Amino acid sequence: MSEIRVTSRSFESFITEIAPGVIEPGHIVLIKGAPGSGKTTFAVMTAKYFASNHDKTIYLSFNESRESMIRNYKGLGIDLESLEKAGVFRYVSLPLTARLESMIEEIRKHSIEFLPRLIVVDPINPLIQKGESAIEKRILVQNYLVSIAKNIRSTIMLLAEEYPDESDALISLEYMADVVISLRYRIRRAGVIERVMEALKVRGSKHHMSRIPFSIKEGQGIVIYKPVIPAEIPPPDMEVMHFMPCSGLDSYVGPIYRGQVVYVGHPSNVRPRELALIPVGFLLLNNVRGSVISFRMSPMEIRDVVINVLVDGGLDKWLAEFIAENYFEYHGVNPLATSLTELMSQIIDFVKHSNVDMVVIHGVEILDLLYPSMEIIAWMKNLMLTLRQLKKTLIILGSTDFSKSRKLAELLSDLSMEFALNDKFELEMKVYKRAKKPRIFGEEEINECAREIIERILEFSESYAVFD
Ligand SMILES: Nc1ncnc2c1ncn2[C@@H]1O[C@H](COP(=O)(O)OP(=O)(O)OP(=O)(O)O)[C@@H](O)[C@H]1O
Ligand SMILES: [Mg+2]
Repeated sequence: MSEIRVTSRSFESFITEIAPGVIEPGHIVLIKGAPGSGKTTFAVMTAKYFASNHDKTIYLSFNESRESMIRNYKGLGIDLESLEKAGVFRYVSLPLTARLESMIEEIRKHSIEFLPRLIVVDPINPLIQKGESAIEKRILVQNYLVSIAKNIRSTIMLLAEEYPDESDALISLEYMADVVISLRYRIRRAGVIERVMEALKVRGSKHHMSRIPFSIKEGQGIVIYKPVIPAEIPPPDMEVMHFMPCSGLDSYVGPIYRGQVVYVGHPSNVRPRELALIPVGFLLLNNVRGSVISFRMSPMEIRDVVINVLVDGGLDKWLAEFIAENYFEYHGVNPLATSLTELMSQIIDFVKHSNVDMVVIHGVEILDLLYPSMEIIAWMKNLMLTLRQLKKTLIILGSTDFSKSRKLAELLSDLSMEFALNDKFELEMKVYKRAKKPRIFGEEEINECAREIIERILEFSESYAVFD
């Protein structure tokens, strides 16, 4: 099976793995985008990458003072001052009124004396703006830059602010550049920015870069997300079976194979103890560990729920705590604060870095409020396939009052258990197993199942010396 490339990547691995041949000696690389799209950050990250190979960067800026630049990038985890001290970074501030000739003179002077491998011009706009001799200017800039890049074998990175009225000036630069990367973003809702980079042109290289989602993160700078689209549907792992935690359920459901999907739903105002107890028992009695990722609760709160349902059932507090500590790990993620891509990458990162067999996603209904159906479908399906490739069984927990996520979870799951209240206000659980006639479990059967789960957990704990 092919390797799954879904986790977040550092900028360095992006350059070496995803975009090899894009940032090469002698190349003119044009990075274009609207204000705030991340051009400066991209260039600074590239300088940091160059510095890690002891290659020097000259940064010519019309925008910011050296001091504000140093301050800003500290927040993104890049210490430009120490790069300066190490002799691999040089900042040259140019006044906005700098004339073309003086800028060329600056580049020439620094290039000869400093021998940079990367020259950044941030932004190039003041040099190509419309004017009487705009065309000659551009030709001059282009010829000059191309020749200097070739002569000293350095990469020249030109940052271009994209404004509608400057498009023709940009087009001629794009024509000249060896590589054109466009950075774009949209504000999804307050606080959530979805960013993508796209290679519009790469001369003479076999890169794998099409549209790549990324984000700009405190302390890390640019973080790249490899798109998650498993091409094939992997089969579940038939060699590992899980069994239902009580005999009533078990005799109807039969085995669940590793990598399959179980949905547990409930109306928002119906949250019986069994809602948590059945998944907890399912994990525990199959002797596997689980990662609980909640879109609604903090890790502390989920852990308390696990302890409380066990203690309510009659387990000693210390035993409930032992189970909560050793069989589960907890994550709280706020989907409001991230894009779907980032959310996926966070989940996969959690799962890859932990030794768990099952993944419980809690509170999927939040997605209904944030995204249209099509996006939730793609997201859930990719999540399911990716977890299956990783051989993790997925349990989706959510409210049945939200139709989009509920329909999807029902559609994707191999087993679906939905709690509800009937006409007489009694609890019932509708259980659907793929390829079987659905069955309704009444309140009495549900209670019996809960009793049995607690009983089995006690037996199970006695058979293990670790619990003593
Ligand atoms: N500490 C930080 N944590 C998270 N995001 C940050 C941080 N500092 C800056 N950013 C983000 O980085 C973006 C700025 O990127 P950058 O300055 O590289 O854009 P730019 O394309 O160069 O913009 P301009 O055209 O205005 O120069 C901002 O949108 C901001 O959201
Ligand atoms: Mg900038």
